[in-house]
Amino acid sequence: MSEAKLEAWLDETRSFAPSPAFAKQANAQPSIYADAAADPVSWWRKEAGRLLWEKEPTNTLEWDLPFAKWFSDGTLNASVNCVDRHVAAGKGDKVAYYWVGDAEGESRTITYGELQVMVNKATNALIEMGVKKDDRVAVYMPMIPEAVVAMLAIVRLGAAHSVVFAGFSADALSSRILDSDCTYVVTADGAFRRGAASPLKPAVDEALQTCPNVKGVLVVRRTGGEVEWTEGRDHWWHEIVERQSDEHTPEFFPSEQTMIIMYTSGTTAKPKGIFHTTGGYLTQVASTYNYVFDVKPETDICWTAADIGWITGHSYIIYGPLINGVTQIMYEGVPDSGGKDRWWRIIEQFKATILYTAPTTIRTLMKWGHDLPQAHDLSSLRLLGTVGEPINPEAWMWYREYVGGNRCPIVDTWWQTETGAILISPLPGITATKPGAAMRALPGVGVDVVDNDGNSVGNGEGGYLVITHPWPSMTRGIYGDPERFKETYWTRFPGKYFAGDGAKRDDDGDLWLLGRIDDVMNISGHRLSTTEVEHALVGHPAVAEAAVVGASDETTGQAIVAFVTLKASGADAAKDQVVVIEELRMHVAKVISPIAKPRQIILTPELPKTRSGKIMRRLLRDVAENRSLGDVTTLTDPTVVNMIAELMGTEAGSED
Ligand code: PRX
Repeated sequence: MSEAKLEAWLDETRSFAPSPAFAKQANAQPSIYADAAADPVSWWRKEAGRLLWEKEPTNTLEWDLPFAKWFSDGTLNASVNCVDRHVAAGKGDKVAYYWVGDAEGESRTITYGELQVMVNKATNALIEMGVKKDDRVAVYMPMIPEAVVAMLAIVRLGAAHSVVFAGFSADALSSRILDSDCTYVVTADGAFRRGAASPLKPAVDEALQTCPNVKGVLVVRRTGGEVEWTEGRDHWWHEIVERQSDEHTPEFFPSEQTMIIMYTSGTTAKPKGIFHTTGGYLTQVASTYNYVFDVKPETDICWTAADIGWITGHSYIIYGPLINGVTQIMYEGVPDSGGKDRWWRIIEQFKATILYTAPTTIRTLMKWGHDLPQAHDLSSLRLLGTVGEPINPEAWMWYREYVGGNRCPIVDTWWQTETGAILISPLPGITATKPGAAMRALPGVGVDVVDNDGNSVGNGEGGYLVITHPWPSMTRGIYGDPERFKETYWTRFPGKYFAGDGAKRDDDGDLWLLGRIDDVMNISGHRLSTTEVEHALVGHPAVAEAAVVGASDETTGQAIVAFVTLKASGADAAKDQVVVIEELRMHVAKVISPIAKPRQIILTPELPKTRSGKIMRRLLRDVAENRSLGDVTTLTDPTVVNMIAELMGTEAGSED
């Protein structure tokens, strides 16, 4: 659809009615909203029946705002729920994962029966290494089946995994290991990306120099590269795991046993260790996977194209799908490993029925042209999903037309690391969809859009997104910092969870998510805080001061733009600016991750500040996005912004 046509269509029609054919066979029926609203807590208790409990809970919600407990007297084992129960039900031969490697032609098929053996052996290996209930184990792994196996083995023991995205640096890994005092690490020698091997183990070795409490490291051989070895601490997976018994009798743990720690960026330099417990988290990921993706375990082939290093991978590559007993595709590579049509070939080969990915990837695939998806048979697809950032209508329409063949419903799912599971999304077959709108809260979830004073806004108005009731998969807090948890989420609007997102209700009352309203940036669906990047920049000896903003970017949603002043007398002052800028970009990549590398760094003699000394980020964002500047009268020196705009080569100018 051309841009003009799209705009005309959006003006006139704006929505797609649910397909009657889909509605007939959908897992969710329209009465679901009213059923849940009548008594949400009891409704969630019913949903908890999706799990296999050793002891059925009699408690449902205990709510001591902002601390929730769900199903607290129930006992269960997460790993048994994902694997053993399906084998016990006679589904051991069903495929759990079609794993597709980065390299062309490399694949593995793992059944639920085989997964059980792998998990049992890995559990026994972890026991031999000394891992116990309540321990924290860091996982720093590529997208290989052993990552899933390790995570399931860790939670099988009642320990918690803290998965650190393998793209993070040694510094980022060590700070996460230290913050939650992880005593074991599971990793690999390296990872593959577009055919090239990149090492992982050296980053672990470097990180562990500052982590004296780590007692053991379990290493999968993936690339076969040379690795340094610390005797007594390091264990090869193919040695210690492979020689274990394939039997393991599980223990059962209380519903509130911590199973996941996942670090995510907040508005300060220090990432927050968001933690999730077992019964509530598993209930809601299992329930949402069933209703939102409408999965039919007997026939669906589901592909969540995300990384296990993020919450999407946890909830919708591992726990939600496995509890539902579906068959999945797990892909190691990037979208163009082995060619720009790789994704379409994977869908065609495995006859994928459900595809879930991020808008940034859709925009990249879109840039490569619709000829590529059109050259492949994608008729197996029946539902598409997006997550991670607002999706622009153009990308939504492209996804619908060229990937979904105008027949697949699209679920635009809003959620966060903190929410554990999807909270806002259309339900296929029931809810109409609009390009760019996440539409409405799921059954059992209370969402509102409020103004500055916490009052609900009317239709056609915008405000702040809040969640009004506790939900089972809500984070139980920030690891080791209950005060920060209260302060971050529960004080802005007393009694309500403040998500940090802006939202709008349209004239029909449907929800549109508008992006973060705080200092959190969303770069290709990766969450990073401006302060975190500033902190990394000022950690460089040449830098005096830095201000970072997220500027909108056609492909990545937002991109990092940094404004930096150098120390006048530093050795770098004499260096070529291009060299300094590249050095600073590499420095940020090293301290945080290559994903945090600024797209642009502007070296400026001064930053625009208010008279009280605060950096005017709003103005910098305007400069970075090439917008005309608003009121600059509160600045100490209004000429500074014009100077910066000139340095950037933009035409932004003051309106004065
Ligand atoms: O701003 C929202 C955006 O991603 C943030 C959460 O990021 P993270 O914790 O990394 O989790 C991402 C995967 C669940 C939110 O605060 N976001 C997520 N989904 C959407 C979205 N923004 C708009 N529409 C969405 N569907």
